[in-house]
Amino acid sequence: VNKQLWGGRFTGAIDPLMDAFNASIHFDKRLFEADILGSQAYAKALAKRGIITSNECELLVDGLKKVLEEWRSNSFKIQPGDEDIHTANERRLGEFVGSVAGKLHTGRSRNDQVATDFRIWAREEAKKLLVYVKQLIYAAVERAEKEIDVLMPGYTHLQRAQPIRWSHWLLSYAWSWQADAQRLEQIIDRINVLPLGSGALAGNPFNIDREFLAKELGFKNVIQNSLYGVSDRDFVAELLFWASMTMIHISRFSEDLIIYSSGEFGFVSLADAYSTGSSLMPQKKNPDSCELLRGKSGRVFGQLSGFLMTYKGIPSTYNKDLQEDKEPIFDAVDTLAGSLQITTGVLSTLTIHPDNMKKNLSIDMLATDVADYLVRKGVPFRETHHVAGAAVKAAEDRNITMADLELSDFKQLHSSFEQDVTEIWDYEKCVENRSSLGGTSRATVLEQIQNLKTWLSEN
Ligand code: ARG
Repeated sequence: VNKQLWGGRFTGAIDPLMDAFNASIHFDKRLFEADILGSQAYAKALAKRGIITSNECELLVDGLKKVLEEWRSNSFKIQPGDEDIHTANERRLGEFVGSVAGKLHTGRSRNDQVATDFRIWAREEAKKLLVYVKQLIYAAVERAEKEIDVLMPGYTHLQRAQPIRWSHWLLSYAWSWQADAQRLEQIIDRINVLPLGSGALAGNPFNIDREFLAKELGFKNVIQNSLYGVSDRDFVAELLFWASMTMIHISRFSEDLIIYSSGEFGFVSLADAYSTGSSLMPQKKNPDSCELLRGKSGRVFGQLSGFLMTYKGIPSTYNKDLQEDKEPIFDAVDTLAGSLQITTGVLSTLTIHPDNMKKNLSIDMLATDVADYLVRKGVPFRETHHVAGAAVKAAEDRNITMADLELSDFKQLHSSFEQDVTEIWDYEKCVENRSSLGGTSRATVLEQIQNLKTWLSEN
């Protein structure tokens, strides 16, 4: 005899190994609250259509509340036959309220349930992650405002390129994270549509009021096709991509900090709270937090590609492969929650060393400004670029900086150079020249800060 919930047509018992292989309770128990909320709403919808009496509805809703309280107080005892969170909750409900529990599943399928539970759960977790992203952006904006005076070398190809404000560098990540936050908000909207009432695949035969269910469960819209309702897991893929993209930003930020905190750069020191030492070398202080952030990104990408592989070849509609959608998301959500908070901690506690940043600014980084100087005297840029390059070379050949070249040296390179060429050798001025929208000048950095602050306060 088969004692499973679905065992009616079976005569043989399930192989114990298959039973364990099939079970998802050890991970999908995380959906306990969503599952109970879904069932409470469904009981009300059944009563609304007269499938159960209002008295029966009350029994079910109260019984489900007791089950929820057990989960919350950690006293729910999972039994050997509890295949997944849906069967476990129904079994326990029956123990509380008796045979009326058997009416709850009328017209409903676990396919219905799991799609609904997972969307409720994902929506709520995504909202929490959104808060963490905003806290991270806030931390970056705060620092950027306080440290607006600090200049540092900006890099391309990891070669010194042009002087920039430290705040400008910091905000470059804040803008990435803002895009992450906006992406997540859009994904939440797409998660937030109701599958419940799809039945196993073909729809609900009891004219269940799905608009009512949507309202009860906080869904914005009702899914319009039952086959789509039970089988769509695009939101899982989207969330995993979101997590991957966000981790890329965190990982690149971390990589910058690892480089900037090295002895060779010495631009920043991570707080002790986010560093560890070496068991062998007493002098070491390692940026483990950043290395872990960089490392954990790989694991999130793995969850994305793993799930895409699972998802790609599934025929319509529900297939058990879909049970493999939960662990990747659970892991990614946990990794993101941790990573976002640690990144905020690292960012807000590190110490900067403006003197070292300044020491690493060099006159050659003003070569573009030499070209721009001549442009302002009416020389075409293609020509001035060449002249400035020759000035760099002239200084290099003599082992001096361009600032040490005489006016006569410059005159030899181009007749348009004048006494005011010396005004170029000023990093602050160079930075302030980049005052078009999006540039690194004080005013444009302050504008970024203001815009991000406004966005944070409105979102
Ligand atoms: N544990 C299953 C899952 O996670 C629930 C749905 C089971 N449905 C079914 N027809 N066996 O996908």
